[in-house]
Amino acid sequence: MTNRITRREFSGLLLAAGAAAASGGIATAAETGTRRKVIFDTDPGIDDAMALLFLHYLPQIDLVGITTSFGNHTIDVTTRNALYMAERFKINAPVARGVADPLVGENGPPPVYVHGKNGLGDIPLPDKISRQPDPRPAPQFIVDTVRAHPGEITLVAVGRMTNLALALRAAPEIAGLVTEVIIMGGAFGYFGNLGNVTPAAEANIHGDPAAADEVFGAKWKVTAVGLDVTHRVEMPQDYLRALADEAGDPGKFIWDITRFYENFYRSAGMPSIYVHDASAVAYLADPTLFKTRSGAVRVVTEGLAFGETIQKPDSRRFPGGAWDNRPSQAICVDVEAEKLRQLYRATIIAGAKRA
Ligand code: BDR
Ligand code: CA
Repeated sequence: MTNRITRREFSGLLLAAGAAAASGGIATAAETGTRRKVIFDTDPGIDDAMALLFLHYLPQIDLVGITTSFGNHTIDVTTRNALYMAERFKINAPVARGVADPLVGENGPPPVYVHGKNGLGDIPLPDKISRQPDPRPAPQFIVDTVRAHPGEITLVAVGRMTNLALALRAAPEIAGLVTEVIIMGGAFGYFGNLGNVTPAAEANIHGDPAAADEVFGAKWKVTAVGLDVTHRVEMPQDYLRALADEAGDPGKFIWDITRFYENFYRSAGMPSIYVHDASAVAYLADPTLFKTRSGAVRVVTEGLAFGETIQKPDSRRFPGGAWDNRPSQAICVDVEAEKLRQLYRATIIAGAKRA
């Protein structure tokens, strides 16, 4: 696949970008005429599936690999779901199967009450899928791809960070070869936000805190798109209904899978769904939609606050401790939710037209 962006794609990009067309991220891609190479590490998962379509249809992105993680379901199911999506939406990127368990301990029971028994809101799925996974395990796929494209790969990780941590352990030099790492994960207490698995912890981090702590501690640039911002981005039912009407098969797919998700949120007293993983993709597409704060991040790996993410802002001084000698990483602390929704909608509609 070429890494040049065609004139037609570029026009599509401008159309798709809508209100965000003037933003820094998109202008950069247009200026350079290149597409950013991305590996998407994901546990589909309803909001993962929404994020994958967003990435697939962003014209400035070259999706070079999908690696699967356990979390929203077992690794078998999340890998099957990624392969299903690749087949249905003609996503050419290879799909590499991730590891089944966290660095320490074992994966717990999947949250079927959030994502359904099949991980995709219990929409009917075919018994057989022709697309086959890449022969390499996900950490190896990440190492190989980063080494093959030094300085070019962005990792977007929206599940447990286990594959990334294992890739780092196998080849620590990749930290210096990756462009940047964008994760959906964490709850940093901004706006008083709590976790979503415990009062302290967000699901992706709680599922493998040791892996997350290694990812935050490596010498690469990490941006965490956590609950502090994803709990400020909702997609109401009428927005999803309009997408189903305007965005062809992807729009209908998003509508179908979000029926289950919406019921889960409604049962928890929420009128509409939170947009977790697609918010991480939005940061990639247009970081100007977000406000960030920098500082070293630690993850609590044992005890009552297991999975809690704590940042020491660079602006604060403390008399020494566990945050010393760790790289300064970015956490998102604010988001322009309406613009994010517009960017998502415009991208899916334009992508559906091109498909
Ligand atoms: C995260 O956990 C998963 O349920 C979602 O896919 C998202 O990545 C939100 O806490
Ligand atoms: Ca996810």
